[in-house]
Amino acid sequence: MTALTPNAPSSKKPLLTLSGLAGLSPEAYRDLSPQQWPVLDKNVPVERLYSNGRFSTPDGKANIVPTPYLPPASKTCEDFPLLLNTGRLRDQWHTMTRSGLSPRLSEHSPEPTVAVNPSDASTFNLKEGQLAKVASVQGSVVARLQLNNNVQSGTVFMPIHWSETFSSMGKTCKLIAPAIDPISGQPEFKITPVNIHPMNVASEAMLAVNTAYEDSAIRSDILARLLLCGWTKRHIEGGKLFHLQSPVPKADFVSALTTSLSAKYQQSLQSSINGCTRVVFFSQGELAAAIAVSEGVGQVEGADISSLFSKDDLDVAAFSSGNGSEAGRIVCACKQVGVRTLTKFMEKNPGATLSAMSSETQAGTGCGSCLPELRMLNANA
Ligand code: FES
Repeated sequence: MTALTPNAPSSKKPLLTLSGLAGLSPEAYRDLSPQQWPVLDKNVPVERLYSNGRFSTPDGKANIVPTPYLPPASKTCEDFPLLLNTGRLRDQWHTMTRSGLSPRLSEHSPEPTVAVNPSDASTFNLKEGQLAKVASVQGSVVARLQLNNNVQSGTVFMPIHWSETFSSMGKTCKLIAPAIDPISGQPEFKITPVNIHPMNVASEAMLAVNTAYEDSAIRSDILARLLLCGWTKRHIEGGKLFHLQSPVPKADFVSALTTSLSAKYQQSLQSSINGCTRVVFFSQGELAAAIAVSEGVGQVEGADISSLFSKDDLDVAAFSSGNGSEAGRIVCACKQVGVRTLTKFMEKNPGATLSAMSSETQAGTGCGSCLPELRMLNANA
């Protein structure tokens, strides 16, 4: 389906293709009915593949293709001493065109991340939760740093999911070399020499915008005016949540955000708790937007702002007073259990087993895909 057949006539091109749909207008794309692979020409219907019991090989049989070892085209060097491995996260699929629409699936990994072995982190002066710039010969991206003993020293891992629709700086494929395998056509997604440096950010913000107002509140030209060095966007219940990073101090960032949002909405309930400034904005009595801004990186957490549009006014008061959700980043999406709930349990019950942690918090009692992370939290407690 995907094998390369250079210079082949169109009838012999890879069958995993929708190239016949290239050039569709937005209206035609919107009205497009479900299509059957392949589409080489949108006006020429194709029969269902392989229903005649023959593969698309010259003899109609499945062929075993020898693939002798080829060394990687890319190698580490003094300037790019680490190897980037890329892959997927448990809750997302490809570039999040569908899975990214689910607020619940987006809670587990809300931003692009780069996972680094703790020994490499100390070599390169990197700390958990800060932002890091990862660069290769091809380009650079910015991601939130995670220390992870499961990542082999000398390598870093980044998920592939964030496109420019969801993040201004987290598109991992910008790093990948154009070296492709001669048989499969796959690039060296698992072997890209990179370097990594902490990125200086003066302040960070979370901005939640009600669905009813998001188009007028946050256009890209407004984002550009907000003194940003980067943004990531995700869907939440009833709206969208932006993670914003700025090179200017918190006071200036608060001022830029409130000036922009106050042009549209009535500002109300400004508060400053534990170094985090929170402001909510209303339009005709309805909650339109909210911001939480902190100095430095890693101080603003999304749990109590991401649920603002799914609940009632009591949560606005809780958000403004800093007494919102205590759960922290969601680890178990099925049962909505956050990292703070789990670490608190382990602090209160040192040595507790994974099954005790699960039965008390309910984490891991649904689909089970959070169990590897629960195991790690339990073992590291
Ligand atoms: S994510 Fe499904 S059980 Fe935790």
